[in-house]
Amino acid sequence: MNVLVTGGAGFIGSHTVVELVQEGHCVTILDNFCNSSRRVLDRLAQVCGERVDVIEGDVRDAALLRRAFAAQQFDAVLHFAGLKAVGESVEQPLAYYDNNVGGSVTLCQAMAEAGVFRLIFSSSATVYGDAERMPIEESFPTGRVTNPYGRSKWMVEEILKDLAASDPRWAIGILRYFNPVGAHPSGLLGEDPRGIPNNLVPYVAQVAVGKLDCISVYGDCYPTRDGTGVRDYIHVVDLARGHLKALAAIMRKPGVNVWNLGRGEGYSVLDVIRAFERASGRPLPYRVVEPRPGDVAECWAATEKAWHELGWRAEYDLDTMMRDVWRWQESNPRGYDDQP
Ligand code: NAD
Ligand code: UFG
Repeated sequence: MNVLVTGGAGFIGSHTVVELVQEGHCVTILDNFCNSSRRVLDRLAQVCGERVDVIEGDVRDAALLRRAFAAQQFDAVLHFAGLKAVGESVEQPLAYYDNNVGGSVTLCQAMAEAGVFRLIFSSSATVYGDAERMPIEESFPTGRVTNPYGRSKWMVEEILKDLAASDPRWAIGILRYFNPVGAHPSGLLGEDPRGIPNNLVPYVAQVAVGKLDCISVYGDCYPTRDGTGVRDYIHVVDLARGHLKALAAIMRKPGVNVWNLGRGEGYSVLDVIRAFERASGRPLPYRVVEPRPGDVAECWAATEKAWHELGWRAEYDLDTMMRDVWRWQESNPRGYDDQP
């Protein structure tokens, strides 16, 4: 297939590009590099054994999209481009609605004009808010979200449902990711957050490599096994493979389909720290601080729908995720900036 991957230079996009190329698809990345490095493209060439076509530009640029769709016939679009920092979204809501909602609308308009109706959208488990029970099924209510980032994802989901209802040619896969972590086993691709990481695993990795001093554990009084927050961590390579399965499924199944992409197992903050200590062989200092506002106690996925409808489930366990993060972090302590 000829696939356009928006945000393909980012963490999840780049790993998905590898899987697409390895499965024989023809890939074009569209990225404005606002949260990624151009050096990802060299690493992708190393891993894939070929250079991937790249359009440098913004998904909100309608004229650019028109030119891209006129230049070649795409069979499908995987839409990763967007902003993803929860705290930043509270401070800059318009930037988030503009990029995540506006960008998705502009993309869908350009796709419809070009007669391209297959779309995979990166959504998030955050659309479930504070779910009443675990594991979280796709049919659970959505929309009770506590921040603009999460709301932007929920809004795009609703827009895509309206769109599919308006025209039977659309075939859309909405993928609700749980907590993507890990890195490519080659050690060449991984997560490279700008500044101090907001998320647990990149933070832990930077403490292990000596860039940061001490992990802050956000609360130990949640009603969980050890009192710390529980999440469904999933290896980014597993997640990437889920996209290929979803792409195959929407070829057979038009309309809108929603799938959780998670492992279906919850691990606490302390579980993650211990697993990273095993992977790195280093003791990791931590201190318990106040809970982070807006965090839920626990969140893990029901995985049956993805298994039955996509034939996909995650393979890699927490130790493998941490081992791969450690390999990436140790060989690229300054992320992609280490490359000449
Ligand atoms: P990322 O920031 O690493 O990748 C996003 C990519 O999109 C970056 O390369 C960035 O430069 C690009 N981009 C952003 N805005 C753009 C625009 N307007 N035009 C063109 N390119 C643009 O993030 P990621 O972790 O790879 O996440 C990918 C998608 O998955 C995002 O939509 C994110 O919201 C969603 N998601 C991520 C997580 C997570 O924990 N990483 C969880 C749930 C959902
Ligand atoms: N945590 C810490 N210390 C840190 C960072 C996080 O203790 O320095 C804890 C959090 O309180 C939470 C767990 O580690 O219990 C995981 O936190 P992350 O920030 O890594 O991930 P979140 O579950 O908060 O958020 C992630 C994505 C969001 C997405 C959400 C969906 O980052 O984009 O999952 O559930 F919306």
